Order: sequence, then C-alpha cells, then structure tokens
Amino acid sequence: MKYDFDTFVDRENTNSIKWNYAKEYVGFEDVLPMWVADMDFETAPEIKQAIIDRAQHGIYGYTKRSEGYYQSIIDWSQKRFNWKIEKAWITHSSGVVNALFTSLRALTGQNDGVMIQPPVYHPFYHAIKTCGCRVVLNPLKIVNDRYEVDIEDFEKKLIEEKVKIFVLCNPHNPTGRVFTLDELTAMGKLCVKHGVVVISDEIHGDLVYKGHRHIPFASISEDFANNSITCTAPSKTFNLAGLYTSNIIIPNETLMKKYQDSCERADINSFNIFGAIACEAGYRYGEEWLDQLMDYMDGNRNFVLDFIRERLPQLKAYEPEGTYLLWVDCNGLEKTKEELERFMLEKARLWINQGYIFGSGGEGFVRINLACQRSTVVEAMARLESAIKNL
Ligand SMILES: Cc1ncc(COP(=O)(O)O)c(C=O)c1O
Repeated sequence: MKYDFDTFVDRENTNSIKWNYAKEYVGFEDVLPMWVADMDFETAPEIKQAIIDRAQHGIYGYTKRSEGYYQSIIDWSQKRFNWKIEKAWITHSSGVVNALFTSLRALTGQNDGVMIQPPVYHPFYHAIKTCGCRVVLNPLKIVNDRYEVDIEDFEKKLIEEKVKIFVLCNPHNPTGRVFTLDELTAMGKLCVKHGVVVISDEIHGDLVYKGHRHIPFASISEDFANNSITCTAPSKTFNLAGLYTSNIIIPNETLMKKYQDSCERADINSFNIFGAIACEAGYRYGEEWLDQLMDYMDGNRNFVLDFIRERLPQLKAYEPEGTYLLWVDCNGLEKTKEELERFMLEKARLWINQGYIFGSGGEGFVRINLACQRSTVVEAMARLESAIKNL
C-alpha cells in the first residue's frame, strides 16, 4: 500500500470530540472511542499538503469558491458515479445536517409529514422536529439477515400520513445498506407519484465496499433529478468533518431557488477557505488514497465480522455494504438498554453508540465505528470478548 493506515495517530489534546471528552460525555476515562463518525486516519497527504500550501500564504481574507472547485466536484461525480452534474446545480452548506435544516425550512410548513427509515441517523429526528414537522416512520425490515425497504408500507405512509418530504439515507447509517437500483427506483417512483420531494443524504456515498455500487438517487432519471436535493460532502470520505464543507446538488431550478432563499434568510452563505481547498484537493488527487482506505476498511470489517461470528455467538453483526460503521445486535446479551450501555462502558470499556438513539428498531443494538487502526479494532474485540466471558 502506498498510504499508511496502520500507524496510530495520537488525537489527545486536539479537542477531538471522539477522543478528548469521555469523562465529560459518558463519565468514564479509560474507554476506547469508536462512536462519532470520524476516522482515526490522517487525511490524504495530497489534501494535507494543499492546506499547508494555502496556509503558508498568511492572508485568509474573504474568498470566493474557484472555478476549479466546481470542476472538481463535477469531475468526481462523473468519474466515481457516472453522474453528469452541472455547475448551476451545485450549492453549499457547512454540513449535511445543516443542509437538511435548510431544506426543511425551505420546503415545509408546520406539521408537514417528513418520512425517514429507522433505525436511522439520529439527527434526522431532531431536524424534523425542530423545523416544526411531523416524523413519519417507514422502518426498514430485516429479510434474510439484511435490512430492506418495506415498499408497501412506504406507499401506505406516503398516502396516509400526507408525507411532504422523504429523507433518504443512502448509504444507510447505521445499517450500512447501499440501496440497489431497484430499491431506489421503487422509492423514487412512489415519491414522484405522490408529489413527495426527496432529500437524499449521500454523505457516505464514497465509502462503499467492493461488490456494491453507490447510485446517486438523482442520477437515475430526470424525474428523480427534478424531484430531489442531494447532499454530498468530502467530509466522511477524506476525514474533513471539522472543515465544515458540503456540496448540495439541486437540478430543479425552483427547488434551488427555495433552498438558496432559505440560506439567505438564515444568512448562511459564507464558507471556510480551508474547507474548499481540502475538498478540491480530495476530489482531484484523493482517489487512490480513498481506494486504499476502502481496502483497509474491508480488512477491519472482515476481522470484526469473523470475530463476532466465531467467538461471540451472543451477538449478531450486519455486514455493511458501505460506510465505516458496523451495526450489531446485542439482544442476545439480554440486557435493558441502560444495562447494555453501562456494560459497554464499564465492563467492555468501549465508547460506542447505543442503538436506541437511532429510533425504532435500534434498541439492544450498538453502532461501532471501525475507521481506526487495525490494532484498535483488535483491542476492541478483545475487550468485548473478555467482558462477555465474565458475565
Ligand atoms: C448519514 C449522515 N448524515 C450527516 C452526517 C453529518 O454530516 P455533517 O457533519 O456534514 O452535518 C452524518 C455524520 O455522521 C451522517 O452519518
């Protein structure tokens, strides 16, 4: 491998929320942090160098996004997903959650129905409720050890709950599903039929394992493109979350205007020059790094899947097709959600996300962030095995 993912990078004293606030957040010090979705790897060296080069200049005044910036997004989309986007379709946000808030404020009124597919990324609930909307649930169902869309329930809910917006999470956090063309088409057609706009959160779209393919929802047809807002970002891909840079793709002019008016009203049009530099460098020069990252992640994923299968029969892990997250059913430990949380912190000494925060279907599960050195993954499994043995 040209790039090094094995060397441990000390994140102490960096104000990392993942590493530096255990005592404050969960009351324990000596816990291995595998929770919030950022990675323990340095970003691609090409990105680091681009930031250093710009930082050397010394003046960081008001700046515009460059033509090269837009072109890098257009090229990346074409190269990685065969999706031809236009510059006029690209707008921005400091983050994907922020874009969700902006979109909901732009497109909904009080008590409008917004549908999501639990167990799902927890800030969706918060955004929907904070914007005064109603959360409508279309839970994923488990079929042959895999999460699938319940398409009958999907249409039923669109109609009965008068849904206005569907927030798609693809690849899906926390289950790791990468939805297929058939699944996306089925959902997209129902949304067009019932006049429901799709906000497609594709922040994990670059993080897909071999054998699976991320298909941008809007790339499927002109109808879908015209009926959607796609949220993309280099942040998960290249570990840049602290640079607050996301790109939002809106082919439909009317939706674009509403989105931009919503930004205008909240005065959120500014951006961070280092975020833009990093994004452009990643999309231009980061492809090889990303491919090697996913090979490394595949090793982490397989190590943990094998370990759980062979040595922890009380647990059941769902093989992720994308994302660096692992969704594990711990109901076999027969613990209440409070007991499970305490067990993971106090006995296993693991700081991981508890499944109940992802809503319906999440209780008794945990989400483990595997984007760390192999040695950390090995240590985590050893801790878990020893804690379970001592039960
Ligand atoms: C599905 C999903 N959407 C959005 C985010 C957060 O994105 P941002 O930091 O850009 O708001 C995350 C982070 O974990 C995520 O998993």
